[in-house]
Amino acid sequence: MKPNILKLTVAILFTVSAFVVMGKVSAQKTVSLSPVTASSLGIAVPAQTPSAASQEKTVEQTRKNIKVLTGMPDSQLIPVMNFFATSMGRRCDFCHVNPWESDEKPEKQTAREMIKMVLDVNKTTFKGNTTVSCYTCHRGRNQPQGVPILPLPKPSPPPPGGPGAAAPPAGQPQASPSPRPAVPSADDILNKYIAAIGGQAAIDRLKTRTAKGTVVQANGNSFQFELSQTAPDKFYLLVTTPQGPFERGFNGQAGWEKTARGVREVIGGELVNFKAGNSLFALINFRGQYARTPRVRRDKIDDRDVYVLDGTTTDGKRMRLYFDASTGLLVRRVTATPTMIGVIPEQVDFDDYREVDGVKFPFIARASGIEVGNPVSTRTFTEIKVNAPVDDTKFKMPPPAAKPTSP
Ligand code: HEC
Ligand code: HEC
Repeated sequence: MKPNILKLTVAILFTVSAFVVMGKVSAQKTVSLSPVTASSLGIAVPAQTPSAASQEKTVEQTRKNIKVLTGMPDSQLIPVMNFFATSMGRRCDFCHVNPWESDEKPEKQTAREMIKMVLDVNKTTFKGNTTVSCYTCHRGRNQPQGVPILPLPKPSPPPPGGPGAAAPPAGQPQASPSPRPAVPSADDILNKYIAAIGGQAAIDRLKTRTAKGTVVQANGNSFQFELSQTAPDKFYLLVTTPQGPFERGFNGQAGWEKTARGVREVIGGELVNFKAGNSLFALINFRGQYARTPRVRRDKIDDRDVYVLDGTTTDGKRMRLYFDASTGLLVRRVTATPTMIGVIPEQVDFDDYREVDGVKFPFIARASGIEVGNPVSTRTFTEIKVNAPVDDTKFKMPPPAAKPTSP
């Protein structure tokens, strides 16, 4: 493979991940309540629960030349590589030549030294938390800036009442901040959401959903997709790409992916994401997804008032849900997945809610992630049907055809 082919492969791979995200999104939007763990990273892989991790192989078992990322679940490798590329402001070929395991480029060796440093500084200085990552210093540049650039920007005027401001005249009390109305409880917000999308009874009637639409990537590439879901968590996703069909499915037991390069089973952390992302109820049943009651705060998105639920999911991610304070609808979800070298964020924005047989679904979902070359992809539904019959054989893993894919 030449580097540009290599890039293409990567692009396809990520493309695919991207709409998986979107698939999840749409699926989730769909429905109701049932304890499904959330994990919304299409690209990235969730923090591993011990059980998920134990099912899954680590990179040194699955890859050819791993010296420092030992112990990392295989499903996190590509997300972490994207994190590296994003941190450097470069692409994969900044460190790699074909094949991936080659150590020909000195940048790859430097990256290994940097990984060791990051692991070490977090362990020794930050109590084992993933506080420092590649992005902390690099911020999208391969050569971080360590010396301030002169002249410094002009200082902004000091805030009134801040240090250096005139003291308030004696006897005059300082204005106290206006009291903020109390925020509703997490429970109230989730109840309002359920009511806003149609109510529990309508959600309980939901047995299947079939949908069609388009995914458009940041570079303008556009693909058709079809999604079939059956309660509680079976799904089948077909995306038509110039490289051929891309399929993903889950039949209630086994998850799988089929591309022009073959069929592979999806396990471990990746399967957790898979199910959470694509099951009919994942975007509805938020209660079961948080490990503890999330905190609530107020915020704004553009000019809109929102309530934000912020907490840790049962699979160890941080998840923030943004609900429109007046309509009660979910407008944004942000998840952050911890990995050994940094926290990988993903954001999905929901828009254009429309009612289909008593339940409202967002017909537009915009996913933003750290994937180099595809920062945003937008999934637009052209058709959503509920409770049409869905053939169960769709969800079954096809027989293996070609050799397994990598990376
Ligand atoms: C900043 C440098 C850097 C960038 C950018 C980078 N990688 Fe890596 N990659 C590495 C290092 C270092 C290793 C080996 C890690 C180790 O030894 O534990 C590696 C290992 C890999 C491997 C495992 C190869 C094997 O079999 O041993 C794959 C696959 C891979 N990278 C893919 C990618 C992809 C895809 C991208 C772009 C999204 C990418 N990398 C971007 C530094 C980088
Ligand atoms: C504490 C700050 C810091 C952190 C954290 C950090 N780096 Fe660096 N990195 C640097 C500095 C500074 C340089 C430039 C060194 C030089 O110029 O000699 C550099 C250089 C590099 C280079 C070589 C760039 C080139 O143009 O040759 C690579 C590759 C790299 N870092 C990868 C990483 C990766 C991958 C991570 C995360 C695992 C990381 N760095 C984390 C500070 C950092």
